[in-house]
Amino acid sequence: MKRVLLATGHELLDQHIRKFEGYTVEHAIYNRSELLEAVQFFQPEMLVVSDYLTGSETLIELIIEAKRMYPETEIVYITTKVNPNDTDRTNQLASLVMVGVYPVLVDKALTPARVKQMMDNPPKREEVDWLLQYYRKSAKKKDDLFELKLEEQDVQDLEEEGYPNVFLISSIKPGSGKSFVSVNVAMTIAKFGKKKEDGKPPRVALIEADLQNLSLGTLLGFKDDDERNLKTAMDAIATIITKDNELIDDRRKVDEVDEFVASCFKPQYLVKNLEALVGSQLAMEELENIRPIHYSYLIDLAADLYDVVIIDSNSNLAHTTTLPVLQLSNRAYYIINLDFNNIRNNVRYKNTLKGLGVLDKVRYILNEDYNVDYMRMYNLEEPEELQFTAEAVEESGFDIRGRIPIIPKAVFLNRLFESMPICLDNEPYTVLPRLEIAKIANEMWPIDNLEFLQNEWDNQLKRLYGKKKGIFRRG
Ligand SMILES: Nc1ncnc2c1ncn2[C@@H]1O[C@H](COP(=O)(O)OP(=O)(O)OP(=O)(O)O)[C@@H](O)[C@H]1O
Ligand SMILES: [Mg+2]
Repeated sequence: MKRVLLATGHELLDQHIRKFEGYTVEHAIYNRSELLEAVQFFQPEMLVVSDYLTGSETLIELIIEAKRMYPETEIVYITTKVNPNDTDRTNQLASLVMVGVYPVLVDKALTPARVKQMMDNPPKREEVDWLLQYYRKSAKKKDDLFELKLEEQDVQDLEEEGYPNVFLISSIKPGSGKSFVSVNVAMTIAKFGKKKEDGKPPRVALIEADLQNLSLGTLLGFKDDDERNLKTAMDAIATIITKDNELIDDRRKVDEVDEFVASCFKPQYLVKNLEALVGSQLAMEELENIRPIHYSYLIDLAADLYDVVIIDSNSNLAHTTTLPVLQLSNRAYYIINLDFNNIRNNVRYKNTLKGLGVLDKVRYILNEDYNVDYMRMYNLEEPEELQFTAEAVEESGFDIRGRIPIIPKAVFLNRLFESMPICLDNEPYTVLPRLEIAKIANEMWPIDNLEFLQNEWDNQLKRLYGKKKGIFRRG
């Protein structure tokens, strides 16, 4: 007996389903607003949902969220056949496919027998894979635009490898430390990055693309600015790109917009060659109209203006910025932690990244690592030994490029409060986090103080263990 939650929005149909053999209907809901709560409460083995379900929420987003909460729940989503020219709709359905929900596309009237058939044989990925192709194609429309801007550069290479100087910091779970890591990596490059041939430090841009959780402004100590921020920059870009994704034929206007967008990047007060474009206090609705192409344009411009561009973005595939950001970055660093569930979800997410053709540029950062030496050194020890460790994560196939330890809460909160990124610190107890951040930064731009930090940490270890180990060796 399969335990089912019904969200068809169709009472009569539900009555039929309740009689189906092999299924127990736990509950039926009739409004979108109830969906997530019901999934959470019943944790059904199967969820049957259709467009009939009323409510003001976006159904696709709810379904993605439901799948994210309970990956084991099989979701049968019944929707109408889509016209491939309807790019918005194909993109939405493609984002479902990427998270493992394979929609049932129907064009005929829905009979109970047909629904039974769908529940017995939910569609397989192969049957809906074609949606992904449309998704990729629609993202490719930006080619036209790049050709205008890039002239000779090979657009194909760009598609595959991204801009050599653009890096994404992301995570599939909110609150994993994206903003903390991206601010510190960007600032490490700006402050300790190797000088350029002209003797100047690298110019670093930090872009806040996680439009669901705006926080870079606070971390960097920026004041809100209603006139020049992420939204006004995106609005300006929208005025020079047509509905058909073409750049308007008005060079002067384009130059004006480029200049305006550039002025929305603001220098950080302590490290002026770090400039950030942040979302300062925007309401989410204000950012809803951003189209992927607008975002591509922004990244293209930033890649041109700065030596290194770092983007702080969430991984929500329903979000318009996610795909262009992934495609245009040279590398995408996903933040993971030692939560076993988080690792399992990241293992699954690898398939999605593979489907998007970007898995080979993905690397991992382990945040809030449980570094026994560090904890012992600063008396942060815990009563139990950790069982699922960083080594185990690496063994399960994650290419980890930095292991940032759990930073004592007061230290973390104080730096936040002072808007003083930890990488500018001089305290001995932040040497290890600074070193690990520098290792990541060093993959993007050579970092001058990496060796110094490594020596400092080695000395701390020697002080902690040196003598003891010496005795053992002699003995
Ligand atoms: N290395 C660390 N040591 C201790 N605490 C940490 C560490 N990294 C992150 N945190 C904690 O996690 C919180 C979230 O960090 P942060 O805001 O950078 O994550 P985020 O992924 O950007 O979140 P969001 O998804 O909300 O944008 C911090 O406020 C802090 O409390
Ligand atoms: Mg954040």
